[in-house]
Amino acid sequence: MNPSRRFSIRTHGCQMNVHDSQKVANLLHHEGWTAAEDADSADLLIINTCSIRDKAEHRLYSELGTLREWRDARPGRVIGVAGCVAQQQGDALLRRFPQLDFVYGTHNLRRVPSMVEAARNGDRASATDESSTHQRFDLPTPHPELALDPARRAYVTVMEGCDMFCSFCIVPFTRGREISRRADAIVDEARALVDRGISEITLLGQTVNAYGRHALRRAGAAGGVVPPQVIGFADLLGELDAIAGLRRLRYTSPHPAFFDDQLVRAHGELESLCPHVHLPVQAGSDRMLERMRRRYTGDEYRRLVARLRDRRPDLAITTDLIVGFPGETEADFEQTLRLVDDIQFTDSFIFKYSPRPKTAAAAMPEAVEEEVAQVRLERLQQQQRSLTLEAHRARVGERTEVLVEGPSRRGGSQRTGRDPYNRVVNFPITLDGVGEAVEAGDWLDVDLVDATPHSLIGEPVSDAAPNLRPDWEQPLPKRPLTLP
Ligand code: SAH
Ligand code: SF4
Ligand code: F3S
Repeated sequence: MNPSRRFSIRTHGCQMNVHDSQKVANLLHHEGWTAAEDADSADLLIINTCSIRDKAEHRLYSELGTLREWRDARPGRVIGVAGCVAQQQGDALLRRFPQLDFVYGTHNLRRVPSMVEAARNGDRASATDESSTHQRFDLPTPHPELALDPARRAYVTVMEGCDMFCSFCIVPFTRGREISRRADAIVDEARALVDRGISEITLLGQTVNAYGRHALRRAGAAGGVVPPQVIGFADLLGELDAIAGLRRLRYTSPHPAFFDDQLVRAHGELESLCPHVHLPVQAGSDRMLERMRRRYTGDEYRRLVARLRDRRPDLAITTDLIVGFPGETEADFEQTLRLVDDIQFTDSFIFKYSPRPKTAAAAMPEAVEEEVAQVRLERLQQQQRSLTLEAHRARVGERTEVLVEGPSRRGGSQRTGRDPYNRVVNFPITLDGVGEAVEAGDWLDVDLVDATPHSLIGEPVSDAAPNLRPDWEQPLPKRPLTLP
């Protein structure tokens, strides 16, 4: 058998999946594996899948079809499937795809190293049992060889699972019940990342701002004694904000139902908390929101946005929207157009409704015709494009701070990065060479000079040297928060 131990992981889906792949890469490093340059040089290939829409699920099936050759090309190669389709299908995947060696679900990351060894010995297996304990958060610390993002950003899991059961959504079935991680473990992990040079942290959870709610309620029922590891989400943000050297703190995705006053206030108070919230609304019509089981009305959502903007007037708000949900009439759809216009979202992800197994909406009558949904999708996209362009244009003339990611997709001598509002900023290498010294992970002041619907165009401020870190290990001081 080929003794070489090089792995490659392909990830589909959301940030949670991206982070799960990082966790598995870390586990494999601890077992003596190294990351392959690409699948061609790998001995182990893992596909981490998404099941949110039908298309995402089918992407896996066509991919697996093409991987038979890959596996046969060298003895000892193994293929595993992970993530939300794995959780949903389990054993059935092994039966359907003989080229597949192992399958593990969203609660079984810790079992990967032993499953891989078994697979290399010819044992095909699947592990999709759900766990309701904290054990799944007990993962090893980052291996020295685990590649951190050169742009110095990192994810930290704060909670997993979802108890909301929106009628269209498969996530409660693929990610299981909501469970929050101990606050002290979260803060320790964040601190260790900052010590290794990370300067931006995004907290992850399916309903991230529901963090701690079940544990707090249980503690309350037990007589109000709250152990130190059980705190609310806003308190957790406060503890993380206090970490010296953490310049940007973000979280995704919050649910509109879990914004208490303390969390709203945090947006005007915490220095490192970025002025951007991705706040999925899904639809503008109360009738649709009710059928979607979203637990708020359009006006409740508008009031929440007003409260947030009251604390942080420049807050950028982005969202997710679904068109063509069962029963959506033209009048319902127009309510969505109206809400989008009222809120003036900086950007949106817009999806055509896709029926998913086990969900309540899959059994709902009055399906919207594909062509009608397509027209609505395009109308909404068109509206959002103009709003995004407008929001970008309004910022031309502003000076902003960019965390540099590297060469721009526009190619040539362009660099790219993100500003505090999470907008993409592209900037050229200027004649006097200010941009030239800039690398991923650097902080740079940029003057915004132009805008497109996709990005802002900037010029590095030429009278100031880029705000570089002296070295990777040395955190920079935070800048004072200035409200406009
Ligand atoms: N936990 C997040 C959403 C995760 S899924 C939240 O509640 O905000 C990301 C987005 O996919 C959702 O916000 C929704 O807009 C979209 N989505 C989920 N299920 C879908 C379906 N069945 N069809 C189309 N879009 C869907
Ligand atoms: Fe899905 Fe709703 Fe849970 Fe988000 S809150 S993951 S949309 S069920
Ligand atoms: Fe997809 Fe699972 Fe995320 S279904 S969106 S990978 S939680």
